[in-house]
Amino acid sequence: MNPSQWIDVTPENFNYSLDHFVIPSHYSKDLESILIPHGVIMDRVEKLAKIIVAQSVGPMVCCCILKGGHQFFADLVNVIKKLTTKDGKSIPLSLEFIRVKSYHNDESGEVKVSLTEEECKEFEGKNILIVEDIIDTGKTMVKLLEKLRQYKPHTLKVAALLLKKTVNSNGYVPDFVGFAIPDAFVVGYALDYNEYFRDLDHVCVISEHGKHKYAI
Ligand code: HPA
Ligand code: MG
Repeated sequence: MNPSQWIDVTPENFNYSLDHFVIPSHYSKDLESILIPHGVIMDRVEKLAKIIVAQSVGPMVCCCILKGGHQFFADLVNVIKKLTTKDGKSIPLSLEFIRVKSYHNDESGEVKVSLTEEECKEFEGKNILIVEDIIDTGKTMVKLLEKLRQYKPHTLKVAALLLKKTVNSNGYVPDFVGFAIPDAFVVGYALDYNEYFRDLDHVCVISEHGKHKYAI
């Protein structure tokens, strides 16, 4: 093997090349590098599930933020439902799916959620776990939490797979974080760029070629 085929995990060179793992051939020119391989994501999801269950206080409503959160949500719930608390109790779960649209360009920075008023009222007194793919600026999540708090849940926590280290952050940090990532546009594991790349298992950095190819 020549050195370009090794995985160099020394910090100064940390980078998985596209040749190190399998990626769909239709994306071969559209990615810069693999940031988090799928297997590492799965191992981390297992640990996050354990941490979440250790802190849980009874029945939980898991809310998937669509569309980007769907893969993380599915894998996380799959582990949580098989775990038990310290006293050996399994946790009753109910599942909710929310599409969130944010309007950062207008002054209010308002978010619109796809739930009806009746559905939101169901949150009263419940333990809510919001499951999101990525916290970037943090604006959408802060607004969403403001809105959901009005319905008086018993607890309201957020699990995000990724937290981007960006100067544009408003400082919001979720209760549970999978990975802190550099300020790059990432795709895969259900995260998209204009609806592309959701069919990619690893979290990858998009290339300039990919940005142009799938620009709208
Ligand atoms: N990738 C995909 N979706 C996103 C990102 C990102 O880096 N940041 C905010 N939404
Ligand atoms: Mg998202």
